[in-house]
Amino acid sequence: MDKIYHDLNEYAAMHSSKSSELLYQLERETHLRTLAPVMLSGSLQGQFLRLLSLLVKPEFILEIGTFTGYGSLCLAEGLTQTGQLHTIEPNAEVLFIAEKYFNLSPFKHQIFTHLGKAENVIPNLSIPFFDLIYLDGGKRDYAMHFDLIIDKVKPGGLILADNVLWSGKVLDPKDEDSQIIHTFNTKILEDSRVENLLLPIRDGLMVIRRT
Ligand SMILES: C[S@@+](CC[C@H](N)C(=O)[O-])C[C@H]1O[C@@H](n2cnc3c(N)ncnc32)[C@H](O)[C@@H]1O
Repeated sequence: MDKIYHDLNEYAAMHSSKSSELLYQLERETHLRTLAPVMLSGSLQGQFLRLLSLLVKPEFILEIGTFTGYGSLCLAEGLTQTGQLHTIEPNAEVLFIAEKYFNLSPFKHQIFTHLGKAENVIPNLSIPFFDLIYLDGGKRDYAMHFDLIIDKVKPGGLILADNVLWSGKVLDPKDEDSQIIHTFNTKILEDSRVENLLLPIRDGLMVIRRT
């Protein structure tokens, strides 16, 4: 990431409302105990997820790719009183950390974890629709995960896809991962069932609205 871009993100984070103490502790533990802490959504994006969720007031949220649960806890803030957040993660080691923090949060009875790959879990979920979906699992699987969930999104509902700028490599996609992300971005743009806005926040967040 360019220094100016990095510095602007830092400035934006410093001039945005602070995350909770629980999220601070979770971020700290993620850095101490996991091999790729950079995967965590982080403060600036977390605050944006929280804000969107507070605006949507979702009854049902789905997250693909829990990691240590940072995004889940931010998204859960907007749930209705009876709302549920379902989050899917195939790595039991990181899900263990996430569950520890979910249990320390006010949302412990509203967050449901699913150990496994999204493509295996989603067909067995008995939730009729989702108001908000956070697509943040394996980047190579984004298109497949999108196709799996698009018919489960309520009209007017949102899908948020993370890392869609892939450290800027989508501008000149030479390697396979960059090409896959670029193809995903084009696929969304051309899908007549949705409208979208690609925001250059952090590593790029695609906001997709089911029309
Ligand atoms: C970028 S991290 C998620 C970060 C998390 N959403 C947050 O807000 O901090 C991506 C996670 O997706 C998980 N993942 C990879 N393939 C997956 C799949 N097929 N289904 C669900 N999760 C997957 C990885 O194990 C990893 O923990």
